[in-house]
Amino acid sequence: MALDRFGRKIHYLRISLTDHCNLRCIYCMPEDQTFRPNAELMQDDEIFLFARLFADLGFDKIRLTGGEPTVRANIVEIVRGIASTPGIRNISMTTNGLLLPRLAKPLAEAGLQRVNVSIDTLDPEKFKRLTRWGKLEQVWEGILAAEAAGITPVKLNAVVVKGYNEEDVIDLAAVTLDRPWQLRFIEMMPFAGVTDVQTQQIVTAAQIQAKIESEFGPLEADNRYDGEARIFRIRGAQGEIGFISSVTVPFCSACTRARLTADGVLRMCLLREKEIDLLTPLRNGASLEELRQMILDAVWNKPWGHGLDEGYIPLNRAMNQIGG
Ligand code: GTP
Ligand code: 5AD
Ligand code: SF4
Repeated sequence: MALDRFGRKIHYLRISLTDHCNLRCIYCMPEDQTFRPNAELMQDDEIFLFARLFADLGFDKIRLTGGEPTVRANIVEIVRGIASTPGIRNISMTTNGLLLPRLAKPLAEAGLQRVNVSIDTLDPEKFKRLTRWGKLEQVWEGILAAEAAGITPVKLNAVVVKGYNEEDVIDLAAVTLDRPWQLRFIEMMPFAGVTDVQTQQIVTAAQIQAKIESEFGPLEADNRYDGEARIFRIRGAQGEIGFISSVTVPFCSACTRARLTADGVLRMCLLREKEIDLLTPLRNGASLEELRQMILDAVWNKPWGHGLDEGYIPLNRAMNQIGG
């Protein structure tokens, strides 16, 4: 098991498969974002090699992210390859859901165990405004397709943005009344690209909770975290509500994560700029032992936590270039 110098066990790798996306959510990237050419991205065999290396170091959970991971060519085969890597016990994906109506079944058959799907409002017009052109109906179909394919439990992500969807948290929370889904409300985090929106239109978890409680009464606290989400329930509801409050209540002390960007760079904290390039050394002939040592060093030196409360904002990448 890879340990950092604070004693945290780092065993969860988020692999971004591409910075490309078929949407342009206003809190993620500007409309005219340019994307990396494919040759700069990790190729399938390079992804499999890294998956094996990390698994050998005790990483047992992999989440595939983007941009949008489902727009990557060969996505089903990539999932199959990672799922069959010895040591990987859990493989999941974070997606905008648009392509799930067609992909949920083949992904499940390839070994995908879970998906987290972004859905920030249940109002089709507001959804279009937030994503710049997304069709809500298609995402909803995607969520149902994932459930039908057995990719459960379904978790839904809603980033809340002042002026866009802060009133919609009530309808979103109501989804949990008669469905066994986990609806997570996320505080917006600042990166490059659309920093003004991210810093000026943030809605805090406390504000979101207050709005939900004004409609449904006090939420029942489960007194547990699921990953980084603090879990609650509306009285009598089948599903759960989670708050991911990275900005106001960070969970850094319990962090178990590392991330590999689509261009093969290891980033040990989402909100710190420090990065360790693994793909260039691999392409320049570094041995597996050298790469292993680079990963162990990076893990050991994982930053303690972010500096948002001191005004530090990581600006070397936009959100879609990291993978959330
Ligand atoms: P599981 O716990 O595996 O279900 O997934 P997750 O909730 O970590 O993943 P998901 O991709 O759905 O991310 C949900 C939100 O949490 C997104 O806004 C991510 O950017 C944020 N997030 C994920 N990992 C981290 C992290 O290490 N630090 C912070 N601050 N936020 C994170
Ligand atoms: N802050 C917090 N979450 C974000 N996401 C995208 N941009 C941001 C941001 N600035 C979410 C997406 C997706 C997950 C990977 O990260 O909605 O659910
Ligand atoms: Fe695409 Fe996800 Fe960013 Fe939205 S949040 S633009 S779906 S990468």
